[in-house]
Amino acid sequence: MRRLCENGSRLVPKLTRFAPASETLYEPAVTAAALSRLTLTNFRSYTQADLVLDGRPVFLVGPNGAGKTNLLEAVSLFMPGRGLRGSSLAEVGRRLPGEAQGRAWSVAAVVSTKGEETQLGTGVESPGASRRTVRIDGETLPPGRLADHLRQVWLTPAQDRLFLDGATDRRRFFDRLVFAAIPRHAAHAQAYERAQRERMRLLTREGAAPDAAWLDALEARLAEAGALMAEARATTLWALQSEIDGRGMRPFPQAKLSLTGEWEQMSAAGAEIADIEAKLARALAQARPRDASAGRALTGPHRGDLAVIHAEKDRPAAECSTGEQKALILNLILAQAARLARAASAPSPILLLDEVAAHLDRRRRAALFDEIEALGLQAFMTGTDAHLFDELRNRAQGFAVEGAALDPLD
Ligand SMILES: Nc1ncnc2c1ncn2[C@@H]1O[C@H](COP(=O)(O)OP(=O)(O)OP(=O)(O)O)[C@@H](O)[C@H]1O
Ligand SMILES: [Mg+2]
Repeated sequence: MRRLCENGSRLVPKLTRFAPASETLYEPAVTAAALSRLTLTNFRSYTQADLVLDGRPVFLVGPNGAGKTNLLEAVSLFMPGRGLRGSSLAEVGRRLPGEAQGRAWSVAAVVSTKGEETQLGTGVESPGASRRTVRIDGETLPPGRLADHLRQVWLTPAQDRLFLDGATDRRRFFDRLVFAAIPRHAAHAQAYERAQRERMRLLTREGAAPDAAWLDALEARLAEAGALMAEARATTLWALQSEIDGRGMRPFPQAKLSLTGEWEQMSAAGAEIADIEAKLARALAQARPRDASAGRALTGPHRGDLAVIHAEKDRPAAECSTGEQKALILNLILAQAARLARAASAPSPILLLDEVAAHLDRRRRAALFDEIEALGLQAFMTGTDAHLFDELRNRAQGFAVEGAALDPLD
């Protein structure tokens, strides 16, 4: 434990050392989680919706604007964070056209895990609330505790451009995969970002020279959180690559993954967390003048990228077709889901696959459904045409979505 106290009139942030990521890989002892009931109240376009689910994969079919993604987003809020659209709490409350403020909203679910049921609920009690409330079996708890009961891996159409856009989106995508296995990764990333903002504020402030002791403290925090982030990413990448190589997943192109960031590479090469932390702290201290004149931090785990190569073609993912890129991303997601599904002491994940069938040819679509079935995971999929899910009939629960109303398909 490292603690710093008062520094002049200002309080230096207290530093509590994080536990290394590997310790937290598989925390709680729950397996094969699936939602058996889902209730939405004043959530997006839904006034009220109630779904009874039997644990099989779920597909939602309906026209544009029907409310399919809204439902997936509701499920994604059973994880800490802002859900699969990254929306604010105010945005998701139901709003009539012209209304400035959304209503108070809630989503609730029963998670069934090997016959045991847990009630999860989240929402805001008043329209302008700045935090959402999370209840687990009636007890109000921090959102982080949701990860004790459910993990999620998701794919959205926004990720179709994953290999074409900048590194930030790829890092975020990869961090979500890391987070599904190592929930504390999110706390490390948040602590890192907060300290980073504060350090840059100090370095770029006009006038008096920055307070060196405070900078030291912030950089210590950055180095500590940054080393853990790098380690969690490197560990996850290694595990994912082993999973992909081991499974084959023939209908999906094989991916060769690497992390380009200096700190992740140091961890992948076997460096101890303490050595990464020490080196990062030194690099940050040296980089002060350079970062101050650049107006941004030029070193650290916020700079790395995820590189993906289509193994058979030996081409970077960015040079592959749209469908091939989608299949490469699916390969990563399924590999992570498979790892988590096997981990006896972590909650198994559910998959949220928005418009997943759109870019896949028939063979790959069938392979995806087979894979989901083989994993035994609950997946929520959406599409505008029922025929996209023909191969899933009798193996899944289908719902027609229209005007924010849900009807079971026979
Ligand atoms: N806060 C809100 N209150 C009320 N309606 C909302 C709110 N936010 C979004 N909507 C409405 O929800 C609808 C979009 O729903 P959703 O994104 O789930 O559609 P979808 O079925 O996924 O459509 P697509 O096939 O185009 O992806 C839109 O009509 C939008 O106006
Ligand atoms: Mg949609």
